[in-house]
Amino acid sequence: MAPEATATAAARVMARLAVLGGISEEAGRLTRPVLSEAMRRANAVVVDWMRAAGMAVRQDNIGNLLGRYPAARPAARTLLLGSHLDTVRDAGRFDGPLGVLIGLAAVEVLAGQGTHLPFAVEVLAFADEEGLRYHSAYLGSKVVAGRFDPSDLDLVDADGITLAAAIRAAGGDPGALPGDRRAGDDLLGYCEVHIEQGPVLEARDLPVGVVSAIAGQSRVEVTFAGQAGHAGTVPMAGRQDALCAAAAFILAVEARARQQAGLVATVGQVAVQPGASNVIPGQVVLSLDVRHAEDARRRAACRLLAAQAARIGRARGVTPTWRVLQESPAVACAPALSGVLADAVAARGYPPLYLPSGAGHDAVVMAGITPVAVLFVRCRGGLSHQPAESASPDDVAVALAVLLAFLQLLAGQETAAP
Ligand code: HGY
Ligand code: MN
Ligand code: MN
Repeated sequence: MAPEATATAAARVMARLAVLGGISEEAGRLTRPVLSEAMRRANAVVVDWMRAAGMAVRQDNIGNLLGRYPAARPAARTLLLGSHLDTVRDAGRFDGPLGVLIGLAAVEVLAGQGTHLPFAVEVLAFADEEGLRYHSAYLGSKVVAGRFDPSDLDLVDADGITLAAAIRAAGGDPGALPGDRRAGDDLLGYCEVHIEQGPVLEARDLPVGVVSAIAGQSRVEVTFAGQAGHAGTVPMAGRQDALCAAAAFILAVEARARQQAGLVATVGQVAVQPGASNVIPGQVVLSLDVRHAEDARRRAACRLLAAQAARIGRARGVTPTWRVLQESPAVACAPALSGVLADAVAARGYPPLYLPSGAGHDAVVMAGITPVAVLFVRCRGGLSHQPAESASPDDVAVALAVLLAFLQLLAGQETAAP
């Protein structure tokens, strides 16, 4: 494909990212949780784009979109492309939507050429990768991969709305989720294009890279229950201050992660009760996110941090509670499929750098039903999960060209296959 044609297609991806970046639940910043009104509006826009590209589109009961571009012959296999449309709070525009829109752009190129490959191409737009609303990531891809846990339907959001009620309010049927499982027997693989969300590609002055493996992650809710009291009358010595206990724990988390190579641990949310300036905090609920490329080390770190929470609690007369909300294992990307992706990178004139992903991706879940490959795109300063997140139009054009080369290489393999 001529470079100017790729540049034009990439410019359209950038314009569409800006459109989706303006669809939010919150004024002045991008926040798009699963099954929200903003997600409904974003899905409506993407459905229109997919249909205009000649794709058949359906939405499942949790709000995933599945757009299908047919193969040259009916009984062909299917390659899945895509990523997620939900976001974190005060998000950047690229994390998730870039993968959906680049997959769509590749289909538009094929459709524009009147080309049908020896496999069908499906572009998936997952409804909940971040877990912002229910603190359990990958709810969308788990439905597609048949790994959705029905007990998650009882998860409750900050407004007391269960996932089941949110599904029904959005027009879905929670009981029908098992039927939304996509069988994997016809699948060739799943390829996700995603910003790197880290500094490596920029440091190596490369526009794209191939992901070798995706780190495992534990999401834990830690509660410190102390004794609320009058800020003016309770002596310091007798306090059971839940927030001071939480603060000691948060610094212990940071210290542990700084000590251990390859471990990252983050407290991103702290809820203080009752939350009044003249009341000693009686209870604190905090989130803990722990990641490592090796599952055994991640789990050992969690055990150690749980023991530290208990130790801090004993010393302060505060009772800690440790509730694991979600654990996802480290996942190695499929060597063969990733090798084809690396060949596509090389075919476009770049050295195929393999690098690990500290961020989670829907590919973690999709690896349960089909081989996965992930293409990273350089992002400015490695910034992500914040409004300054960005990738350049040139790098998006390179990623699209690589994805098109990847499709052509796979087509050659599929045609040659017996
Ligand atoms: O948190 C993550 O790793 C991803 O952005 N969901
Ligand atoms: Mn993210
Ligand atoms: Mn993401």
